[in-house]
Formats: sequence, C-alpha cells, structure tokens
Amino acid sequence: MPDNALPPPQMLHAWGLAGARLSPLGSGLINGTWLVEADGRRLVMQHVNPMFAPAVNDDIRVVTAHLRSKGLVTPELLPAADGNYWQLHEGGTWRLMTWVAGTSHERLSTVAQAQEAGALLARFHRALDDCRHEFHHARAGVHDTARHLANLRRALAEHRSHPQYAAVQPLAGEILGLADALEPLPALPERLVHGDPKINNILFDPATDRALCLIDLDTLGRMPLPLELGDAFRSWCNPRGEDDQRSAFSLELFRGAVAGYAAGAAGWITPAECRAIVPGTLTIYVELAARFCADALNESYFGWDASRYPSRSAHNQLRAASQLAAARSLLDMRGAAEEVVRSVFGAVSAA
Ligand SMILES: Nc1ncnc2c1ncn2[C@@H]1O[C@H](COP(=O)(O)OP(=O)(O)O)[C@@H](O)[C@H]1O
Ligand SMILES: [Mg+2]
Repeated sequence: MPDNALPPPQMLHAWGLAGARLSPLGSGLINGTWLVEADGRRLVMQHVNPMFAPAVNDDIRVVTAHLRSKGLVTPELLPAADGNYWQLHEGGTWRLMTWVAGTSHERLSTVAQAQEAGALLARFHRALDDCRHEFHHARAGVHDTARHLANLRRALAEHRSHPQYAAVQPLAGEILGLADALEPLPALPERLVHGDPKINNILFDPATDRALCLIDLDTLGRMPLPLELGDAFRSWCNPRGEDDQRSAFSLELFRGAVAGYAAGAAGWITPAECRAIVPGTLTIYVELAARFCADALNESYFGWDASRYPSRSAHNQLRAASQLAAARSLLDMRGAAEEVVRSVFGAVSAA
C-alpha cells in the first residue's frame, strides 16, 4: 500500500531540490507519489513500494530509453547528485522522474477516450517488440490466477476470527465459484508489456483528451498478451470504476478500446491472441476480485481510503464485489463482446 510519508529533506537534498514545494499527486494504490516544484520546474518524486526491489529502476531506465528512441512520450528517471537513479533512506527507496503534463482518469467516460487508450497501448507494445532487455526485477506470477485463488482460499482458512469474516466468506465463495466455471486460457507466447495498464496509469492531455503516455512502470515484463489486454479492458470498460458495487462492463467502451488497439496492432497481434481477449478479460476480473477479497482479510497489500470507508477490509470488500459484478456483466454479454473482437479485427485486416 502507498506510504504517504513526505519526501524527507535528505531525499530532496540528494537531487538538489532542498526547499522545493511538495504536493501529493494522483491516487495510486502502490507508491507514494509527490509533485515537486522548484525553480519553475515540475518533477515527480516517489517513495517506491517495498515490494519492488531497487533494481526495478534499472529496467525502467532501459525501457523508457527504448520508448523514447521510438518517439513515444514517457516519464524518465533523473539521476541524483551522486549519479544514482534511486536513493535508499531509512530502508525505503526514493526516485525522481520527469513530470508529464497530463491528467489521469479514474474511469473512462467517452468512446473517444477508450479509442485513444487502445491506440496508445498498441503503440507501446509495438515500440517494445524489439526490446531484448533481460529484466533485473521480474515479478513472477503476476497473473498466476491459480496462485491468487489459492491465496484467497488460504486467507479464508487463516482468518476465521477476523471481525469481517462473516461478510467476506460468502463473497469469496461467489468469486471462487465463478473462477471454477471459467475455462483456462490457452498457452500463448510472452510479449514485453506494461504489466498494469489500468486506466489511471494513462496520462491524457487535459485540453485535447489525447492519450499521452503510460506511467507507473514498475511492472514491466513479459507475459501472454491477452493477460495484459484483459487487465486493460477490465479497467477501461468499467465506467463505474473500482469502488462501485454496481460495476458493469460497457460494450461501447470495449468496442472503442478494441478499435483503437486494432488500428495499431492489426497484423502484429495473432489470431490466437485475439481470440483470447475476452476470456483474458474475464480471467483478470475474477483474479482481481480474488486479490481484493483476500486482502479484505489479510489487510496487507492494497491502500484504502479512510475518509470514505470504515475499515480497510470494508474498502477491499467493495472492490472485490465491484470486480465480481463487472465479471458477471461481461459474462452476460460474452457473445457480443467476442463478436466485437471478430468484427473490429476483421474490418481492420480487410482495409
Ligand atoms: N511522471 C508523471 N507525470 C505526471 N503525473 C504522474 C507521473 N507519475 C505519476 N503521476 C500521477 O501520480 C499517480 C500515481 O503514480 P503511479 O506511478 O501510478 O503510482 P502507483 O503505483 O501508486 O499507482 C498517477 O496516477 C498520476 O496521476
Ligand atoms: Mg498507478
């Protein structure tokens, strides 16, 4: 969960920013993120979540340089006065990066935004296709769905005395039941992907609503494409966002997102990857529901909003219920969603 500790003076000093103005930035769930203003410049300082080893920054540097060489906009890490791209302070890792003049959205409201997001993700994937970097910091099993489901079962077994157990148990039962009903995804080759392309990891130009760049690059790595696309579409196509029990899948936003992606990725994405987009999206909904639900008992991973919810468990229960509702909604329109994929990619390929 994010640690909202202010950047300490030693860290500001390390980057020659003593006396800079600080304000909290965005609503990330993982890192502590601060806008740093000094000498008319804007920069972003982050307290990196301890789940990421400092070596993650070496990977980010290689990949952002690759993106920039292909003409993509990206935040880039800035060296401290001692030449290092991160600093350790009282056991925590801090880093500084360039600020990109854009805003993130918690949910999409227009088809045009979905198209923009899809086109940006396709540009990102294609730009990285020839990047041969061996990652220093690989997060094994990010989308190992079976492992996430096992974690939920373990949390249920270990936290019977949790004050919220009676509320969490039936929710967990529904998530595990739905997981059992989903068919396994086909084995597909790995691609270099963002790893967390949720909607608030895209910066949009506030004036034009063009998608500018992907941020939050701690989860870069290789995985089968439908897991990355499933993670994107489960987030982008849920207009109620992650904190609403009435979440539902929007076929309109999906059509826009797939069309934007297809315009850039047709001829590159394979037919087998296309066929796995909808199953991949369902899988990620269920997997994320399981992760939120497990944390409703473990209370150790996701940040939460204490101003809106009575407890961390309550916030995570709501998030789990939200992902579950969206999964059910997509299941109800599965045939139509699969037809969207077929028709959009068919039309782009034929053009
Ligand atoms: N380089 C940047 N330029 C502008 N805004 C940024 C930048 N990096 C992060 N942000 C803002 O801060 C928020 C949190 O940062 P992010 O890296 O996504 O952290 P988390 O891992 O906690 O999600 C983003 O959603 C975005 O609004
Ligand atoms: Mg983020």
